[in-house]
Amino acid sequence: MKLMVIGGGGREHALAWRLSKSARVQKVYVAPGNGGTALEPDLENVAIDAVKDPDGLVHFLKTNDIAFTVVGPEAPLAAGLVDRLEAEGLKVFGPCKAAAQLEASKDFAKQFMAKYNIPTAGYKTFTNSAEACDYATEQERRFPGLPIVIKADGLAAGKGVVVASSLQEAHQAIKDMLTGNKLGSAGARVVIEDFLQGEEASFMVVCDGQSAFALATSQDHKRIGDGDTGPNTGGMGAYSPAPVVTPKVYAQVMREVIRPALKGMQAEGTPYKGFLYAGLMIHNEQAKVVEFNCRMGDPETQPIMMRMKGDFASLLEAAIQGRLEQAESMADNLWDGRPAVGVVLAAANYPETPQLGDAIAGIPKDSPDTKVFHAGTSLSEQGLVSSGGRVLCVTALGGKLKEAQALAYKALGPIAYNGMQYRKDIGAKGIS
Ligand code: AMP
Ligand code: GLY
Repeated sequence: MKLMVIGGGGREHALAWRLSKSARVQKVYVAPGNGGTALEPDLENVAIDAVKDPDGLVHFLKTNDIAFTVVGPEAPLAAGLVDRLEAEGLKVFGPCKAAAQLEASKDFAKQFMAKYNIPTAGYKTFTNSAEACDYATEQERRFPGLPIVIKADGLAAGKGVVVASSLQEAHQAIKDMLTGNKLGSAGARVVIEDFLQGEEASFMVVCDGQSAFALATSQDHKRIGDGDTGPNTGGMGAYSPAPVVTPKVYAQVMREVIRPALKGMQAEGTPYKGFLYAGLMIHNEQAKVVEFNCRMGDPETQPIMMRMKGDFASLLEAAIQGRLEQAESMADNLWDGRPAVGVVLAAANYPETPQLGDAIAGIPKDSPDTKVFHAGTSLSEQGLVSSGGRVLCVTALGGKLKEAQALAYKALGPIAYNGMQYRKDIGAKGIS
């Protein structure tokens, strides 16, 4: 069968590559893809923008006999691409527009979690700047010395969350969003949340509307600098599995987060089908939800796909057909037991205004235990050039996490482009 993956980042390169390894898959198209997917033997890029040109996509899927489509990023999901494809009778893995609100509206997600008793930080939502500023002042009094968390309600490409370390910074963030229009309509409502302490982990599951199939756990590194310093980014590297998700935490998350979320979405009349990502904060082996995403994480997907050795296409097909419960039998042989580490190579000036268009040299050939996933790259007549803030994700498997880490850093050694920056400590928390 032939499949389609929507998106063009590192996550989509990893998803499409892994899908192409399933025995029943002949080819995976990627729209629009990137320089890495252009170079893969079993993948082919299609120059269609699924958000701007859904008609073109529908036409392509029908005329090329695509068995099913997997939607990678949140934007097409929030725009209702799944609803459109299903209305055309096409098979697709991803949540419908109403269900994608779990990511697309922080206020929706918080109300949903409150209604279904899913553990998360306390919060209040505001549209009025003065009232929001008063609440932030109150928060400072209630939790002296703790940061104040300000979130834009809508999708803001990773720029919508400010963990303010002073009241002044919190007030500024509120004004930027509510009166300064800094994030456009995404910032027309803000959620102010209690600060959660602990260690973060990413917990992703495949859902078919009723049941969930847990994927391997992982941990992202969101800050730009070593030791979790500097501004937040989309993610500077990840590793899998995350030891902080102990068997006890795993069981709690399935019981208190994933199953209630699926039940709740059913009760709301919008059963959840697709990847569901719970961003967790774990303290004393108790997890609370920091955020839901309606898609896989990037870069968490890269090490997770590196570890997947089972038939990923059949797993997603089972979810589309609503028979995930039968897929439980696949769980035993699905994973390479070895850990994987993925180190993101970013562009100069990322995350503010990344420098684009630099020639990339020295990418090593894949080996059985190493692979370079592309994110912001494109293939031009001049060769491979950078075209996004996060450029590559160099990923490796190793017997121990430390070995996987060493192998990933060794593999990225020859890679060079202007202003390349990366963290030197990806995986360090898992090792300690
Ligand atoms: P989000 O997009 O909601 O995941 O927020 C981005 C990042 O901000 C998270 O990965 C956390 O590092 C941090 N963050 C968000 N909400 C909180 C919170 N309530 N307490 C502590 N840190 C938070
Ligand atoms: N790496 C975090 C995310 O994909 O949201």
